[in-house]
Amino acid sequence: MGLDFFCFGGYLPTVVLSKEQIQSFHTNGFLTIEAISPPEEIAVLRDVFERLLKTRAGFNEGAQFDLVGGGEESSVPKLLQILNPINYAPELRNTFFRINAIAIAKQLLGEEASPFFEHAILKPARSGRPMPWHQDEAYRFEPDFEYKQLGIWMPLQPATLENGCMHYIPGSNHREVLPHRSANNDPKIHALECCGDFNPADAVACLIPAGGCTIHDGRTLHYSGQNHSDAPRWAYILDFDLPPARRTEKRDFPWHHEKQSADLIRKREWLRKGGFIVESWRMIRRGVPMNRGRLAYFMRRLGRALSKR
Ligand code: NI
Repeated sequence: MGLDFFCFGGYLPTVVLSKEQIQSFHTNGFLTIEAISPPEEIAVLRDVFERLLKTRAGFNEGAQFDLVGGGEESSVPKLLQILNPINYAPELRNTFFRINAIAIAKQLLGEEASPFFEHAILKPARSGRPMPWHQDEAYRFEPDFEYKQLGIWMPLQPATLENGCMHYIPGSNHREVLPHRSANNDPKIHALECCGDFNPADAVACLIPAGGCTIHDGRTLHYSGQNHSDAPRWAYILDFDLPPARRTEKRDFPWHHEKQSADLIRKREWLRKGGFIVESWRMIRRGVPMNRGRLAYFMRRLGRALSKR
């Protein structure tokens, strides 16, 4: 059974946030929802991601890699990430998860909210590493733009303390982007870790069923623990934003300057060999609207990606 089974041209979202939930999101920086995708869809999604893992989809384009691997691509990944899996699995275009996520993003960010990025993360059974504390906005390559963004994080297995559920620091969404660095201070590692002033003891753990989700603001500090369980733990994350606007005040994200992760090097090579044309087409196909602000942002980002040594 493919995801075509769930094709729903004309289906309406099944999740509508209450005023209290919207208020809670803006106050605390995160929200938990018990069901955003039905169990049948979750089973299909698990198969899709296992297939992408097996075929190493996107590896040569720098779109599949170990977030904490330090460039040792031959070793077994401890925290595997697939960027924009929709590029390699068209059946992901039509899911209840996506329909509901878009509706939620519009409720929280406004009607102009649109998808800009998505990813899947695998924490292998018994060995899956934690995702270090971070704010998603710190991953943005262009600090001179203003971002309003959120991530919708859906586990494909129940998210528990044992297998590495999401943890959030309430209210951290009201802070600026804090200092980050490469995990373990190793620029060959893709993952960032926040080295700013915050107290992990303030964290709230979010236990949710498979097909539930957590939603977090781009500045909410978050972390997910190690997978000690006997089952792999997949999460599928859809990210939405408003068109980035140029900031009046300059700022710097110095943690990007020294990055030498193997995936970024593969991606740069691929973009230089013409991949930027494919990348542009995929963005249009993913429904990323190209208004003026977003176009300026992407041109700047592409120029930087191509020009780095
Ligand atoms: Ni994150």
